[in-house]
Amino acid sequence: MNNANLQLTDEGKLKHFLSIEGLNHAILTDILDTAESFTSVTDRSIKKVPILRGKTVANLFFEASTRTRSTFELAAQRLSADILNLNINTSATVKGESLLDTLHNLEAMQIDMFVIRHQDSGSAHFFAQHVHPGVSVLNAGDGQHAHPTQAMLDMFTIRRYKQQFENLSVAIVGDIKHSRVARSQIHALNILNTGEVRIVAPPTLLPKQADTLGVQVFHDMNQGLRDVDVIIMLRLQKERMTGALLPSEKEYFRQFGLSSERLQFAKHDAIVMHPGPANRGIEIESSVMDGNQSVILQQVTFGIAVRMAVMSMIVSSGKENP
Ligand code: CP
Repeated sequence: MNNANLQLTDEGKLKHFLSIEGLNHAILTDILDTAESFTSVTDRSIKKVPILRGKTVANLFFEASTRTRSTFELAAQRLSADILNLNINTSATVKGESLLDTLHNLEAMQIDMFVIRHQDSGSAHFFAQHVHPGVSVLNAGDGQHAHPTQAMLDMFTIRRYKQQFENLSVAIVGDIKHSRVARSQIHALNILNTGEVRIVAPPTLLPKQADTLGVQVFHDMNQGLRDVDVIIMLRLQKERMTGALLPSEKEYFRQFGLSSERLQFAKHDAIVMHPGPANRGIEIESSVMDGNQSVILQQVTFGIAVRMAVMSMIVSSGKENP
């Protein structure tokens, strides 16, 4: 699914933010640099700038979320937007209203930006195809396809701790097959010219043709972690598994869980990341999650600045209200 034309203006600026695929090094770097400038807003006593004053942002979360939904809301608030949080469970979608009809009814309320999370791959793209020309769509996670703002906050975290990408070895570990986060991370790491991108997983948790993704594939955790600079752990997405892909969670942890012993295979200053929600004792040991190499909570904090950056770049593209 290539959304390059749909998510960019004729001048090559962001109009929607649907996937990392189709974006280039300059845009990703611009997002990271812009987010850097917003981290100081988050540190101020008055955490507001007027970039989205007069704009209305609607948060439409058809799937559960803690981090993405809250940080999108805080990001919009800190940019001075008006926010509409639609409660899907009490909205007319439960009475059978189609996604398109919900969209058009919300558009009738002069929404400027939609932030959408939906269980169907391609739903954000579908929204972007159907909104009025002056309205923008930000993908907060669609099915197994993409989670681009998560990938960008992960890139921001890596750059903050490691300063560059070219000389890094990054291992993404776990349920790659069902992970929209991993897909978006792999695209972003490759666009940013990361030295080496590894995926570490049992064969049952790899997507088809994993070796065509521009990554090194490992089925042995100790080998996959050897001398890496960054470890990104992923949650087992049991809700997306249709068959028995694993012998047991205990066996999975034994082979692919990140324990303090396993962490020793990585470089001594390797950072440990996880997009959340994390399952302690299934993919990551508590002592590692809370340990001094973990930057998992810093990822959440950086998510606000990165989401502010994406929203502000969309507004400044000058195309959200032609
Ligand atoms: N990383 C992430 O998407 O977390 P939430 O499901 O809590 O938003």
